[in-house]
Amino acid sequence: MVPQCLFWNNMKSASIAMILLLSLLSLLPRTIYSVYQDPRNFMKTNTFVSESFEVGPGLVAVKTFMNIKFPKGHIGVKSFDVEIVDQEGNSIPLYETYFHHWFAIKYLVNTTMLQNPEPHLDPIKAFTFKRNEGTCNGYLLPHYWGFGGESRGTSTNIPDPFALELGNPAKIPDGHEEQWLFNVMAIDTRGVEDRKGCSECRCDLFNLPKDFYNVTKDIHGEPLTTDYKGGLFCCQDNLQCKLRNGFQGPRRKLSLRYKIRWVDWNKCHIPVRFYILDSTDKVKSNGLETIHDCQTEYTIPENHNGDFLHVQKAKIPIEKGGYLIYGTAHMHTGAVNATLYGQDGRILCTTTPKYGTGNEVGNENGYAVGMSVCYPQPGSIKINDGETLTVESRYKNEFRTGAMGHFYIYLVDQLPNENIQNLIQNNLCLPITP
Ligand SMILES: *[C@@H]1O[C@H](CO)[C@@H](O)[C@H](O)[C@H]1NC(C)=O
Ligand SMILES: *[C@@H]1O[C@H](CO)[C@@H](O)[C@H](O)[C@H]1NC(C)=O
Ligand SMILES: *[C@@H]1O[C@H](CO)[C@@H](O)[C@H](O)[C@H]1NC(C)=O
Repeated sequence: MVPQCLFWNNMKSASIAMILLLSLLSLLPRTIYSVYQDPRNFMKTNTFVSESFEVGPGLVAVKTFMNIKFPKGHIGVKSFDVEIVDQEGNSIPLYETYFHHWFAIKYLVNTTMLQNPEPHLDPIKAFTFKRNEGTCNGYLLPHYWGFGGESRGTSTNIPDPFALELGNPAKIPDGHEEQWLFNVMAIDTRGVEDRKGCSECRCDLFNLPKDFYNVTKDIHGEPLTTDYKGGLFCCQDNLQCKLRNGFQGPRRKLSLRYKIRWVDWNKCHIPVRFYILDSTDKVKSNGLETIHDCQTEYTIPENHNGDFLHVQKAKIPIEKGGYLIYGTAHMHTGAVNATLYGQDGRILCTTTPKYGTGNEVGNENGYAVGMSVCYPQPGSIKINDGETLTVESRYKNEFRTGAMGHFYIYLVDQLPNENIQNLIQNNLCLPITP
């Protein structure tokens, strides 16, 4: 088994293809909480609720929800915020259900193929995943938006006049539709013996199958060795983390509640490119091209010499540069900060976690509940074509499994020039009509 969030190779299996097919064909009830349109800047906001999934004390849930509710049309997305709620819409605190991650992944569907299934064709062929601009290899870290426990406290806002352009009919082949899926991992830590260990997916706390180390393949498709002490591979759907003696608690259904803000695309908007740089990427070159080798997670070994910080570092060339307009990172509890450096050593962005101090949702004591976001003055930070960036993620130097250092940056080719500024000032940013 390979965690489905990171690897789509396993989707070749017919059973998964069938699940995809069924979830696309079934028409789900559309829960729409509110639609709000700001008449001044045409900003639209909608809050959606995903399908639900069931958890119980100590249980892991790893789910993929295909074809999630998403605004339609040729749009520019400005923000995408996600949290976990119960069936009554109450926000769930991290110490009850640890939100390991959610990823929003884009794909194209060949609707012709789906509507006229041909028995000799594998239905998986109808789906083409559309990853972000990089820089991980294959299908690793393909998502656009995605955080975890820090989700509630991390801004996803893209400043004006920038936005992520979606649904451009000129870029979607005929007979195809752009859709989104969620990949979610949540760990119910009610009543567990070791809350930190369960949240870090520590293998020895889970009821792994007997042949776990024989049959599980690592991120390179090699058998997992017993040196693997924890991380994504030990947090598989429906595994059970060790409970305190005699603890009992109710099962419950949870969902993702997500708020998207967007605008109809017009000629004043400037598209952003999304990148996710992994501090575990072992970049190599074969002389002709760069070869990325992202591990997506890492283990911080027991610290014997008392250093305060553990630093994980990658040097990553960026083929096509641009102006930096947003930067932050996905990290786990224990994170100290993460920094992105230019080739000359200049600091492009540092992001720092905020730790909760209370009991209430969004401020859970001891958890990383938010990451700061860099919003450089557009134009002030430029990454050159071919520039090699350095990503450093820093954690407290103590034994930790499943540590992540995923640096998210948005780049643009163009700044709002005089022409665009004039149009904005004179309210002439009309939607582009086909
Ligand atoms: C979509 O599927 C149809 C029917 O199977 C096929 O004829 C067509 O070539 C596919 N389109 C693309 C772009 O792959
Ligand atoms: C699984 O691995 C264990 C320990 O490495 C070994 O003793 C056992 O023979 C293996 N079983 C199979 C079915 O490969
Ligand atoms: C990251 O945190 C460490 C420890 O607090 C600090 O020494 C370092 O200066 C920070 N890095 C940046 C770039 O702020």
